[in-house]
Amino acid sequence: MTVRICDSALEAVSIIEDNEVIWTHSMAATPRVLLDALAKHAKTRQNLTLLQLHTERSDSLASPDLFGHLRHRCFFSSASTRPLLAKGNADYVPMFLSELPLLFRSGEQPIDTAIIQVSPPDKHGVCTMGISVEATNAACLVVKKIIAHINPKMPKTHGDGFIPYDRFHSVYWQDDQLPLHPQIELDDVTLAIGKNVAQLINDGDCLQMGIGAIPDAVLSCLTDRKDLGVHTEMFSDGLLDLVDAGVITNRLKRTHPGKIVTGFAVGTQRLYDFVDDNPQVVFLDIEYVNDTAIIKRNDNVAAINSALQVDLSGQVCADSIGTTIYSGVGGQMDFIRGASLSKGGKAIIALPSTAKHGQLSRIVPTLDAGAGVVTTRAHVQYIVTEFGIANLRNKSLKERAKALIEISHPDFRIELTENCRKIWGITL
Ligand code: COA
Repeated sequence: MTVRICDSALEAVSIIEDNEVIWTHSMAATPRVLLDALAKHAKTRQNLTLLQLHTERSDSLASPDLFGHLRHRCFFSSASTRPLLAKGNADYVPMFLSELPLLFRSGEQPIDTAIIQVSPPDKHGVCTMGISVEATNAACLVVKKIIAHINPKMPKTHGDGFIPYDRFHSVYWQDDQLPLHPQIELDDVTLAIGKNVAQLINDGDCLQMGIGAIPDAVLSCLTDRKDLGVHTEMFSDGLLDLVDAGVITNRLKRTHPGKIVTGFAVGTQRLYDFVDDNPQVVFLDIEYVNDTAIIKRNDNVAAINSALQVDLSGQVCADSIGTTIYSGVGGQMDFIRGASLSKGGKAIIALPSTAKHGQLSRIVPTLDAGAGVVTTRAHVQYIVTEFGIANLRNKSLKERAKALIEISHPDFRIELTENCRKIWGITL
């Protein structure tokens, strides 16, 4: 196929026509340059749909000028899509991340065009999807057109994200700094949560880390462990010191021994340099990475994820604050289930006991109206806060309520106990 080499990003996206369904590369690989151009081009088009996960630096596409021209369809939200979702100007589709590639491959969700950001072609004429393979690999296999931003700053990565240059319909070259996420300064609460979770992690465990500061806090407490492995949906800088210190060896993994397996990476330039042409890190299709049958093949899988609210029966809300969509289902359940099925595995939900500077308890008698249950109370195992660890497995509702109140913030324990009696009819 002849590749159209474009002088501008606008020229590259101009092949998009009315009524198209578009997939955009997401996470830290969000092709900002092309999406900014799409925000201009879309004004001349009607009825475009933009499928996406969490996109970064895509504010131009949130403009009200685009209403009627382009609508976001989000499998995970971001800072720019959250306000649109809250006002009904975008759509949220709750879905396990592991199922997204199949949705595309089966044609159940047709896609016309993929907009992606890739590393420059190598001597074989092959580019890579760099730091984010997630569902973009599957999308690129089915779409009619691929528009690529070739960015010399995108690391060349190993795994499933290879894509021949001649698969592209139009390309635009530009050096563009990838979004950098400096490590968050860990406060006392987050560090205390990290220490509590670390008590559950043993030598030889295979780790999955979710989103936020808590994973970094946990990792900072694991410096004396040996032979940890990593099979995770995503990772960030917190892992690097443990790799450098020889704590993470991946030696004991049954699948991909010696290698870190991931679907995407988000962090600082140090992280992007680490993954660049590093055969010890494989970025694989998220259908495989998040497949419970694959996850459970490793022994001692420790899945560490977070939540917005947990009720006294153990239902975990992680994608919304009441009816307001905050993030997405992502891979939380994929890994909670995979870890539970793994021999010696541990499914961990770690969260601060309060929100809004201590004004609200995150452990609540019942979830807020409209809150989305991401991990059900039958799947949940460990809940960890800065006040301790509650193991809910094989616990009755009464035993759960008691264990959860014990790790709630002391300011809310009397109220929770009282509400437990009133709402659940349980006297502790
Ligand atoms: N009520 C009201 N507001 C709440 C709240 C509650 N119960 N819980 C949290 N918030 C607010 C916080 O105060 C914070 O607001 P701020 O940004 O103004 O400070 C905001 O919501 C985010 O909370 P925080 O705890 O900082 O979120 P996080 O960045 O640690 O992410 C999840 C937590 C649950 C949103 C995130 O882990 C997630 O999206 N999970 C679902 C997907 C997943 O687990 N994937 C796993 C594989 S990667």
